[in-house]
Amino acid sequence: MTSPETGSPVRTIDLPDAEATRAFGRTLAGLLRAGDLVMLTGDLGAGKTTLTQGIGDGLGVRGQVASPTFVIARVHPPLADGPALVHVDAYRLSSLDDVDALDLDASLDDSVTVVEWGNGLVERLSRDRLEITVERPRGGADLEEILADAEAGVRRVRVHGFGPRWAGVEVPGTTVVEDSSPAAPEKSVG
Ligand SMILES: Nc1ncnc2c1ncn2[C@@H]1O[C@H](COP(=O)(O)OP(=O)(O)OP(=O)(O)O)[C@@H](O)[C@H]1O
Ligand SMILES: [Mg+2]
Repeated sequence: MTSPETGSPVRTIDLPDAEATRAFGRTLAGLLRAGDLVMLTGDLGAGKTTLTQGIGDGLGVRGQVASPTFVIARVHPPLADGPALVHVDAYRLSSLDDVDALDLDASLDDSVTVVEWGNGLVERLSRDRLEITVERPRGGADLEEILADAEAGVRRVRVHGFGPRWAGVEVPGTTVVEDSSPAAPEKSVG
């Protein structure tokens, strides 16, 4: 059994459209402060950047949050008091040291850092992190339906804070009861 890590309870929320996802990002922004690291996971087009737009809006930062694919990282300075938003696309990075090497015009300690595609990189950087997964339900009966769902459809977002920073923080959503007991033996068929 893995040792339990301090952190927040795991919560999920279903977001019916892009605006709902942005609104959820604005809510999350209310929980975020300088030095925080948010890791976004999810397939291409899942809604990671859309969620980050809401976070940027909620933090009150300058500039349009967009896909940082060709710039690796973009700094959005605060419009008033508060942290900057550093938006990172780690898709082509092999290490987050590469982000440090970018010599961004912002210190991560003074910023909220949101990393898309950071799984496998971010965990080593910080024990304290908010992990968010964005998923599309894949219930479509045929390809046409699946493609339609992909563009305009509900997203299921799962939020889990790791480390002391997130201990006791009530992230919004419905609590997921995760079964930590050993997996029940599968019924053998045939
Ligand atoms: N519930 C929803 N939440 C978020 N986006 C949605 C939702 N429903 C539809 N969309 C649409 O899905 C697309 C999501 O694109 P977005 O760039 O946010 O994805 P991404 O996960 O950042 O992709 P990439 O992996 O390419 O960076 C947008 O066109 C958005 O309008
Ligand atoms: Mg994106």
